[in-house]
Amino acid sequence: MRAASTSGELPPRDRLYKFCVSVYGYRYTKWRAQTPETIGGPYVDHAMPRGGSSTAPALTWTAHMIAPLADQGVGTPASFVQRIFTLDSVSGKEVLHISALGLYRCFINGQRVGNDLLTPGWTSYHERLSYQSYPVGALLKAGENTIQIWLADGWLRSPLMWGGHPIVNTWGKDIAAIAELRAGPGAAPVLLASDDSWQSGALPIRKSGIYFGEIYDARIVPTVSAGTRVLAHDASVLIAHETTPVRELAPLLPVKSWTDGEGRTIHDFGQNVGGYVAYAVQGKAGATVTVEHAEVLDKDGNFYNVNYRTAEAMTHYTLAGGDVEHYRPHFTFQGYRYARVTVEGEATVTEMASVPISSVTEQTARFTSGNPLVDRLVLNTLWSQRGNFIEVPTDCPQRDERLGWTGDAQVFAGTATYLGDVHGFLTKWIRDVMADQRADGAVPHVVPDPTRQDPTHYPGFYGSTGWGDAIAIVPWQLYLHYGDTGILTEALPAMTRWVDFVWSISDGPVVNPPRAWGARGFSFGDWLQPSGPSAKPLPTISDEASATIYLYITSSLVARIAGIVGDVATAERLGTMADKVKQAFAEEFITPAGRVGSDDQTSYALAFLHDLIPVDRQAAARHYFKNAIARTDGRIGTGFIGTPALLPALVKIGEVGLAADVFLQEEVPGWLYQVKMGATTIWERWDAIQPDGTIYNPQMNSYNHYAYGAVCQWLLEGVAGFRPDENDPGFATVIFEPTIIGELSPVKASHASPQGLIRAEWTVTGDTVRYAVEVPAGARGLLRLKPDYRHASVDGTAWDGAGERELAAGSHVITFTYTPVPRKVRDQNSINARTP
Ligand code: BGC
Repeated sequence: MRAASTSGELPPRDRLYKFCVSVYGYRYTKWRAQTPETIGGPYVDHAMPRGGSSTAPALTWTAHMIAPLADQGVGTPASFVQRIFTLDSVSGKEVLHISALGLYRCFINGQRVGNDLLTPGWTSYHERLSYQSYPVGALLKAGENTIQIWLADGWLRSPLMWGGHPIVNTWGKDIAAIAELRAGPGAAPVLLASDDSWQSGALPIRKSGIYFGEIYDARIVPTVSAGTRVLAHDASVLIAHETTPVRELAPLLPVKSWTDGEGRTIHDFGQNVGGYVAYAVQGKAGATVTVEHAEVLDKDGNFYNVNYRTAEAMTHYTLAGGDVEHYRPHFTFQGYRYARVTVEGEATVTEMASVPISSVTEQTARFTSGNPLVDRLVLNTLWSQRGNFIEVPTDCPQRDERLGWTGDAQVFAGTATYLGDVHGFLTKWIRDVMADQRADGAVPHVVPDPTRQDPTHYPGFYGSTGWGDAIAIVPWQLYLHYGDTGILTEALPAMTRWVDFVWSISDGPVVNPPRAWGARGFSFGDWLQPSGPSAKPLPTISDEASATIYLYITSSLVARIAGIVGDVATAERLGTMADKVKQAFAEEFITPAGRVGSDDQTSYALAFLHDLIPVDRQAAARHYFKNAIARTDGRIGTGFIGTPALLPALVKIGEVGLAADVFLQEEVPGWLYQVKMGATTIWERWDAIQPDGTIYNPQMNSYNHYAYGAVCQWLLEGVAGFRPDENDPGFATVIFEPTIIGELSPVKASHASPQGLIRAEWTVTGDTVRYAVEVPAGARGLLRLKPDYRHASVDGTAWDGAGERELAAGSHVITFTYTPVPRKVRDQNSINARTP
């Protein structure tokens, strides 16, 4: 398989522009794809707060939540609500406040309001429902105006969860809209408010669902056929939009297209994305175009999407006939790299493009090196973030899951905060985590949590260590990266309740999670940790050890957080608890001879990284840690929670050479293996495709899961060597501490931080390193060099390298020598260390 070519950079605009003009025949404003119904319309962006805390005063609503009487329930045609109204004059300052149960798209006088996708977004609707505020003066006119709000099932009621037990009507069975037009911002007079005088009708969208996709019949013209009714709805759950909206990224053109044995056209867009396929078609009324989606081709090059499980993930469009028609779905998205197109009847698809969508549209960190596989791995992580940061940080965008898995989010938060501006995005999500936290402090496995509404088939879907800890670890990353103490203060009570919940699982410092799914305190352990051949399995960390380690990680972190926000009592109580857990861990899980946990890589990585090993047993434990890596022939032996700790732990104990060996080896399991196999996003499983091209069992096999992309935090913080300082967060102080791995030279990294651009680049010549850094204006740098880096100079002045050296804002050049560690090149694999 060829390594993917698409860089993270988006395609050159002029080629794209010509393409769009040629295909869509309408004006294409930079980065904003227009949908057919808004040709030429001005765009109105809603006021978007930075960092999740909306400054907008709470709105006192006059409007009512109104449901279309044309609606027939979940899985039936989408419908609209509409009102024709008259304005004596238009000041141009008019503002529309709007939200919905289900997803909405709003039009005023036929012009689309804004270009945000999947509004009002996905939150824990029973407690929090976002509303958007759009300045719409430019769309209004004196005299008669028409407002029309399209509504569809969305996350509110289309099936969620997987397999044979989807949850339907999760947050309600009625789609509805609430809209209030005011003469201006703030408490300006109300010009129009939704009520039961509004009318309704059915839409050309005959069916839509998050997993399902969309059926659209262009022969149907939206026509009023019924009225509306006021729904009992608690307006206090309406909250001003907190995050960056979901937007289209620049479309990607097919890099290869072919026809299969049944005459269907397959397009390879060269990049696995979260998004949808847009196309232009011309033909007879009644002809249809069906688009199916896949992430990979099977061993024989066939279109393959069995791993989507019960998610239909398709679109079906029926032509109105005549001129060129344009289609892209309205209320759904898919996860895919390939599209299979079936045309029935007389019609020709003239052009087709893949349109990635995301809540994270700007890339704020870059990392390149002398190893193209490593550079591609970073881009794969960026694309996995883009495809899974669509309103909620999800596990995957393609199958019948796409859920806000807490464990994945916590391990990835430290990377996500570099690659994109996710302050508002993750703040909003943490507020949903708090909304869905259970009374006993248990944090759900997924947020927003459908099982809270209907636990029938998913009882006890909460409370796993390593997953629930997102309640503390994600806010901590927001504090480190954005200097946000507000979210720490806001979430501290919920964090504390979580820690107390974990302690209560076994009522003590050693946590003994029950094995049964759904039982109180069940833990995922180190999910997907490779255990080798079933005939001779490799050790994996026990649930008890991983749960106890996480109780230590989070109780000590929350104690620190309580200290930072001034809650001394909590800081002391949890500090004491953490000490007890640390001591108990050593007694329970570290042998006198220094073996830790289950003697597997995850046990050592987490224990070393979080200082859980008593000094007198560290040398022995280090020996056993290295053994655990030799046991897998230098390949990875960690899962979701162990993997982010593996390389930082090895560097921490001075095993830089071993860290480089494990990172740079290209066999399975390993980060670079999947890149070599043609991955363009991060795989859920290390061995999702076997070396001979065989696809791993499809029951749980996503090709777009960002969890293992968490290694990018180590590339930026460990290798390039810059990170925030918890004592002076938000990059007011930038700590520079590089780790030199000669094979990666030249390393170039940068981050658009809240303080400005940080740069760190190093090149190696022989045993000499040139390290060039840039400290943003208004910030300061602190330089730390590893003890075995010698003969240092800073900006041409010698430095003994002891302790740390302050760097003023601006550019600096540091040189030093290091001792290259020869790579342990392994010939043919001797040990089968695959995942089970
Ligand atoms: C999800 C993962 C999640 C795991 C935990 C999987 O189904 O895709 O993202 O972390 O379950 O069990």
